[in-house]
Amino acid sequence: MQFKRKHLLGLEELTAEEIRMILDTAVPFKEISERQIKKVPVLRGKTIVNLFFEPSTRTRTSFEFAEKRLSADTINVSIAQSSVVKGETLVDTARNLEAMRIDMVVIRHSASGAPAFLSERIDSNVINAGDGWHEHPTQGLLDMLTLRDHFGKLEGLKVVIIGDILHSRVARSNIWGLKKMGAKVGVCGPPTLVPRQISDLGVQIYSRVEDVLSEADAINVLRIQLERMQSNMFPSLAEYNKLYGISNKRLEQAGRDVLILHPGPMNRGVEIDSNVADGEHQVILRQVTNGVAVRMAVLFLLAGGKPASAAQAASMLE
Ligand code: CP
Repeated sequence: MQFKRKHLLGLEELTAEEIRMILDTAVPFKEISERQIKKVPVLRGKTIVNLFFEPSTRTRTSFEFAEKRLSADTINVSIAQSSVVKGETLVDTARNLEAMRIDMVVIRHSASGAPAFLSERIDSNVINAGDGWHEHPTQGLLDMLTLRDHFGKLEGLKVVIIGDILHSRVARSNIWGLKKMGAKVGVCGPPTLVPRQISDLGVQIYSRVEDVLSEADAINVLRIQLERMQSNMFPSLAEYNKLYGISNKRLEQAGRDVLILHPGPMNRGVEIDSNVADGEHQVILRQVTNGVAVRMAVLFLLAGGKPASAAQAASMLE
């Protein structure tokens, strides 16, 4: 079986079989990051450009680690120091990079659809590292890998995403991915931040965190994206914390085990209290560790690697 897609633009267009293929491929790649010499010659000779038009800590460094650990040549274009600030278009920037003979572009952009737009205009593989409010497919994949590691399955799990659903590409990728893999998905947040049409995707809408805590196997806690809000969507951060913040007191009142995920960056004391962010219920840094393996798997498959040979590839020595 082969992964036949040229680009990774979102989880909406992937089949359950393709998602499973990426998650299964990531498993043998995890071990590379635990070795003393964290490098295999899987992508030797490939050149990958990381083009981040928005700030990022986790995704950009995680892609860079994944690329380097697979021995690709990798370049980070610093947008603030590039000719984008002189008015060069996205396509012209990418075509000029292609003229220097690159193989893949990893792009984060504030405009929803920018990776898809680029994929229709350049020859390289395009990987969406987060576009506007649309999708963040590798985040959805690493969240699913972390859930599957913990529960041993995705099918039948109840996962609720709490917070700013409206502006969240992470929510959309998780919803598409988890639903395809047979999980039940819910969302919860202030009515102004939960689009009603989300129920058309087969998602249950919760208005109270207490109801979520009594039903969910796992909660994915999202950051309030103040930078994307045109006006105040709720009275205050303190009130948000009171109504929707995840605290140890709330988890204790629920009286049952609920796994806590957060894609980062976290606003401690707003959507999640520090004692939960650092507590026994969370797997937040495990998500980050899994991110490197998931991105290695995506790069490997888009470069033509066969899922069945992932374990062999991961055991190759430099
Ligand atoms: N989760 C996530 O996308 O984090 P960054 O914005 O730091 O990449």
